[in-house]
Amino acid sequence: MPAVIVVTSEKGGVGKSTLAVHLTGAVAERGLRVALVDEDGRVGSSLGWARRGPGLPFEVLEPEQVKPKVVRELDALIIDTEGRPKRRELRELSERADTILIPTGVSALELESTLSLADFLNSEGGARRKLKVVLTRVPPNSGAGERAREDLREAGLTVCNTLVRQYASYLRAAELGVLCKSVPDERSAQAWADVLNLSREVL
Ligand SMILES: Nc1ncnc2c1ncn2[C@@H]1O[C@H](COP(=O)(O)OP(=O)(O)OP(=O)(O)O)[C@@H](O)[C@H]1O
Ligand SMILES: [Mg+2]
Repeated sequence: MPAVIVVTSEKGGVGKSTLAVHLTGAVAERGLRVALVDEDGRVGSSLGWARRGPGLPFEVLEPEQVKPKVVRELDALIIDTEGRPKRRELRELSERADTILIPTGVSALELESTLSLADFLNSEGGARRKLKVVLTRVPPNSGAGERAREDLREAGLTVCNTLVRQYASYLRAAELGVLCKSVPDERSAQAWADVLNLSREVL
């Protein structure tokens, strides 16, 4: 069975879909068989992303398409979740996941929300070892990402070393329905390097 990675957060707009799409792309580029599941039917979700452009180099599935026959063939399944999941839904997600990846920005509000979500999942038992936080939309060259990473680690969380930095390429990629590496921008290669590095920490 594939490794199941759930990308989730309680706060909306933190960068889940952007991260889920790119993480899947990075894992696919490494030659692994991977698909993305969009569990968020709204506008701005990863299915919309895939439909906007010339096509992504992996399959984006609706939840109904996740069948044993499809899943058996995969090394990894990455799940993009809705903006503000209920705690009941989070509990159910955490039971299905091998890894729960929580993206967070560096702002105090986002860090607080991440700590509260981690507390909840840890109190559920079993989730502690699955939980990984990743800092995203990190202002480049500010030191803010490093500080936030340190603070979260001091609070006892597992935090990815990779800081996914804030680049316009990600925004443009969403508009064009492509991966950031295909966006003509001088920073696109750096943006892509961040997600490739992250993918190696996660899978
Ligand atoms: N690393 C990044 N650099 C720059 N912009 C980013 C980055 N990650 C995400 N964004 C931008 O932040 C906004 C929110 O991102 P995204 O839609 O991925 O968040 P989300 O958590 O999936 O939101 P929702 O909760 O609504 O599903 C988008 O405009 C996206 O382009
Ligand atoms: Mg989203």
